[in-house]
Amino acid sequence: MSGTKLYEGKAKILFTTDDPHILLSRYKDDATAFNALKKGTIANKGEMNCAIASHIFQYLEAQGIATHFIKQVSPNEMQVAAVQILPIEVVVRNIAAGSICKRLGLAQGQPLKQPLVEFFYKNDDLGDPLITDAHVSMLDLATPEQVAQLKQLALDINHHLQTFFERCNLILVDFKVEIGSDANGHLLLADEISPDTCRLWDKEISDPTARILDKDRFRQDLGNVAEAYQEVMKRVLAAIA
Ligand code: TMP
Ligand code: ASP
Repeated sequence: MSGTKLYEGKAKILFTTDDPHILLSRYKDDATAFNALKKGTIANKGEMNCAIASHIFQYLEAQGIATHFIKQVSPNEMQVAAVQILPIEVVVRNIAAGSICKRLGLAQGQPLKQPLVEFFYKNDDLGDPLITDAHVSMLDLATPEQVAQLKQLALDINHHLQTFFERCNLILVDFKVEIGSDANGHLLLADEISPDTCRLWDKEISDPTARILDKDRFRQDLGNVAEAYQEVMKRVLAAIA
């Protein structure tokens, strides 16, 4: 059923299928951080992230967000719509953590006044630098209309994800999404939504290290990485869609 390998990324492999509009996305156990300077594997991550992402894509579709998800076809594979991924990583932050703390001197865990949308240039050679709308325009990464759509889409996704993770007793600190353009020029949420791409804190735990249930456990060598993903999966699958 799966055709030729189209693209291999750090966490997934994309294959062609018999239908040119449909690709197969295979989730891997591989984990990287700091632009692949740190490499490892997280036991069973491929299956856990595939299950989590499938569930969340279906939830978001039900809320009116267009995604590339078609259906899960095996424990670590899903069919997705073939899209042209915009070379922009869109990050939404609700609470200060990670790179924004280093960049702006904010305290980890400080709530932001309102959700913040940031764009990063998806370019491994350059280390995915933060860019402004003016850079997006100068580099022809997206049209001004697409930039406006991207920001609104990112905020809408944030709103729905916050509601969803609330039900899981998880705090959505921040997340990264990738957006693709389909054959008709419509923007679709693509890539994945998982503990690889979101910061998720256990609402019940106040200890700043113990509450981390996402890839920061791998990035910062905090231990219990697979256990954290397992816990997120358990809660996501139990949440009523
Ligand atoms: P940052 O604080 O390192 O900029 O990360 C912001 C969010 O984006 C966080 O939830 C982790 C996610 N992220 C990715 O999904 N891929 C990446 O390559 C990076 C750097 C961050
Ligand atoms: N996935 C990214 C990488 O290895 C970084 C990260 O998620 O922290 O480059």
